[in-house]
Amino acid sequence: MQIPVPFSPDQASSYASDADNLYAFLWTLTIVFGLGLVIAIFYFAIKYRRRSPNEVGHPVAGAISLELTWTIIPFLISMGIFVWATELYFKIYRPPANAKEVYVVGKQWMWKIQHTEGQREINELHVPLGTRIKLIMTTEDVIHSFYIPAFRMKLDVVPGRYSNVWFEPTQVGKYELFCAEYCGTSHSGMIGSVYVMEPADYQAWLAGGTGEGTPAQQGEKLFQQLACSSCHLASGQGRGPRLQGVFGSTVELADGSKVVANEDYVRESILNPRAKVVAGFQPIMPTFQSLVSEEQVLQLVAYVRSLTQEGQGSNASGAAGSTTSGTASGSAASAPASTPASSTATPQTTQSKPNAGQAPKPKPKP
Ligand code: CUA
Repeated sequence: MQIPVPFSPDQASSYASDADNLYAFLWTLTIVFGLGLVIAIFYFAIKYRRRSPNEVGHPVAGAISLELTWTIIPFLISMGIFVWATELYFKIYRPPANAKEVYVVGKQWMWKIQHTEGQREINELHVPLGTRIKLIMTTEDVIHSFYIPAFRMKLDVVPGRYSNVWFEPTQVGKYELFCAEYCGTSHSGMIGSVYVMEPADYQAWLAGGTGEGTPAQQGEKLFQQLACSSCHLASGQGRGPRLQGVFGSTVELADGSKVVANEDYVRESILNPRAKVVAGFQPIMPTFQSLVSEEQVLQLVAYVRSLTQEGQGSNASGAAGSTTSGTASGSAASAPASTPASSTATPQTTQSKPNAGQAPKPKPKP
């Protein structure tokens, strides 16, 4: 069911009508109660007005049934709104498992996006119609907020962590993309477009790629370049833990606690390696805080993740690791993988300036 809300943008995602229905209900409730109160005020003011100068009013005793009524009805209404809104919240902010992933990095003042196929774009997002898209988002500097009104989707991106949200576009077209969190001088210019395409058109768009490789492939190059591969041996004999099969598993830490190896865990282990040391290993890994950008961290995360998806639980992954390391390190010298991704199109000239008055570079503390 779709209740039209006046002045609202297109309903272009699978849950847009749900959000509008809740909004329409709140709106209706406000009008009904607001009007009811105003009418009651006038009605009682006229009905019980003073008719002679020396008239004295009657004292009012309690009325239990009346008081119960005006307590219980609003209670039920507000709890109903709570349950309804919570359900919708979890629907929007818990991405389904089979969603197609897209990486988003916010930065003063642009949105940098990379698809799992390797395609990059700035202030534009191309997505196929009818596909569930999961956004894995973070920021290089201050808090931004990724907002697509037509999808009824908005989520803050926060320094030092990944924010996840999903949507399923239901209508081909071009939609607006905003930053919805004041983030400095050019906040209002941090806007872009979302293109919802027929799947075939999307495939054609993807085919016009830059040939830089997928994020996982770029992550693998970085893994060689930064010499991560000299400690994290596929054989498990290295000074750092073997990474094959780690992503998604439960890791035992030196202090006896356990942690699920998700995106945030891998990110923290790269930037603040001593925060969670794996059981049986020494805290000898240096931080890569100043050596890698957020986009590169995402590529490394994609690579670590690909080690689980491809070679889980087999020795083949060890062999694959050693063969690919030869080719990867050979191409790594010539590959421009370490150049910032934003070099393709940088509309802002101020992008690399230190941000006066903005939040300081955050420490990767969860
Ligand atoms: Cu980014 Cu406002």
